[in-house]
Amino acid sequence: MCGIIGIVGTSSVQDRLIESLKRLEYRGYDSAGIAGFTGNGVERRRAAGKLKNLEAVLAGDPLEATVGIGHTRWATHGPPTEGNAHPHRAGRVTLVHNGIIENFGELKAELQAAGHIFETDTDTEVVAHLLDVELTNKSPAEAFKATLDRVRGAFALVVMIAGEPDLLMGTRRGPPLIVGYGQGEMFLGSDALAVGPFTNRIAYLEDGDFVIIDHKSARVFNEAGKPVTRAVQTVAQSATLMEKGNYRHFMEKEIHDQPEGCQRTIAAYVDTLTGRTAIPGGIEFAKLDRIQIVGCGTAYYAGLLGKYLIERLAGLPVDVEVASEFRYREPALNAGSLVIAMSQSGETADTLAALRYCQAKGMRSAAVVNAVGSTMAREVDVVWPIHCGVEIGVASTKAFTAQVSVLTALAVAAARARGRIDATEEQRLVQVMLEAPRLMAEAALTEDAIRKLAPELARARDVLYLGRGPMFPLALEGALKLKEISYIHAEGYAAGELKHGPIALIDEATPTIVIAPSDPLMEKTLANMSEVAARGGPIILITDAEGAKHASPDMKVIVGPACDPFIAPLVYSPPIQLLAYYVAVHKGADVDQPRNLAKSVTVE
Ligand code: G6P
Repeated sequence: MCGIIGIVGTSSVQDRLIESLKRLEYRGYDSAGIAGFTGNGVERRRAAGKLKNLEAVLAGDPLEATVGIGHTRWATHGPPTEGNAHPHRAGRVTLVHNGIIENFGELKAELQAAGHIFETDTDTEVVAHLLDVELTNKSPAEAFKATLDRVRGAFALVVMIAGEPDLLMGTRRGPPLIVGYGQGEMFLGSDALAVGPFTNRIAYLEDGDFVIIDHKSARVFNEAGKPVTRAVQTVAQSATLMEKGNYRHFMEKEIHDQPEGCQRTIAAYVDTLTGRTAIPGGIEFAKLDRIQIVGCGTAYYAGLLGKYLIERLAGLPVDVEVASEFRYREPALNAGSLVIAMSQSGETADTLAALRYCQAKGMRSAAVVNAVGSTMAREVDVVWPIHCGVEIGVASTKAFTAQVSVLTALAVAAARARGRIDATEEQRLVQVMLEAPRLMAEAALTEDAIRKLAPELARARDVLYLGRGPMFPLALEGALKLKEISYIHAEGYAAGELKHGPIALIDEATPTIVIAPSDPLMEKTLANMSEVAARGGPIILITDAEGAKHASPDMKVIVGPACDPFIAPLVYSPPIQLLAYYVAVHKGADVDQPRNLAKSVTVE
């Protein structure tokens, strides 16, 4: 997946395209390019690597244009070279693309047989060739429609055509595309963030739509080619802001933003006057057979935490599965279940597909998303937004704890609805939840101690994370964070599972991070910790003052606040995130843009 932007402007667009691409880098950052109408027709500038390489190219060879398109890439077909960087072109057509053209192989063979010469290894280039052919005897709109009728896959496109300097065309099938309305200027982009510096008046295109913009208007057509209206909304400033203030990295800022993000999120799911939960959407938890949670990466681990919380408190069965496996293994589902899609972006292709699979089986659907204008948010029966603000760091932090906050509230509400707890216990748990943000901030005060541990941990080749109960999903998330940003191999294990295999990995060079704040399972986890210590493995224990009493002098101990076990997953998230962060910083890694990753994965 990639980020795309198009501007039909009245003043120079070069710097504005770059500004947008900076905001879209979370979608991919292995090469970038822009194109615009200049006095010489359509010109483009491209560069492999980060956006700063493209900026260097432009410094020596500026692009003077008021209408243009831009792209930041996460390679799917063909290595991230300048030659494979977008925009791609053929004849009159220059375009940028996010997604995959599934039938590009057969289309390419057909075009090559007809004499077309291809310059790149990408799937994208076939669309440029096809559209150029269609333009021989059709208007731009007709040619675009005819081209779209021939391509299969999940994609968003923005297209410019030589000789039509006042218009851009775009479409979306799967990946998102929005239309931005400015003052005598119009925009197309992957999201509201991309056009944030220019306008907050946005129309979200529906799946299958295609659109033609000029300086003043957008004409939108649905997949059948029928003109349609897509409402223009004024999006909140928080959806278009992207500042890291005094922090070195967005990830660092976002870790510290968590108490506020969770506070806002929890406040949206409880009624502070009555001290009760207040879950919007009218889902009757008492009548549900089961909940099916689907998600990817960090969102999946948030879902796993939801399973621990909801099953224990509400006695409601919850299945959690990585979305990419889910729909292909023919899971047994029934219409009396609720599917919850967990997704920061609301656009992850695998999660969206799993959600639609459940909907097709007649299940009611909900989505816990950050992007309220996203495809998932628009396709579900109930949207449960997280309120943590835009997350920029590719490694998710504040979205994770905000997702967990929603699931924590759902657990209480479901338990109450199913008669597992009375009103007094509900009020007590709501009080406990409301304390979580303050305790998270307190847990983040471990930062200095964690920073000091980073150099030693950064030398490790492998790291194990152990946890029991709700600390097990947190161990998995901790290991994922370390892998993602520091490139150290890390695995999370259920502490009790250690002796069934992973214990063979323990030696003096393999640190084990044990997450064990006080709860009824702490002593068992600490026993597993002793098994590691007995085999000479270095240990970092993340616990509270009570747990710290069990540490031996050779262990490193991070002491967080004591808290009710119900909110421990929230409270103990900042230390595990900070640990990964400082190891990555110590290694000099690109924390906000780790290699090979992208924040929003809109391909399967
Ligand atoms: C990518 C990101 C992860 C994220 C996952 C799910 O793999 O690198 O950080 O957790 O996608 O993203 P979503 O937007 O669906 O939560």
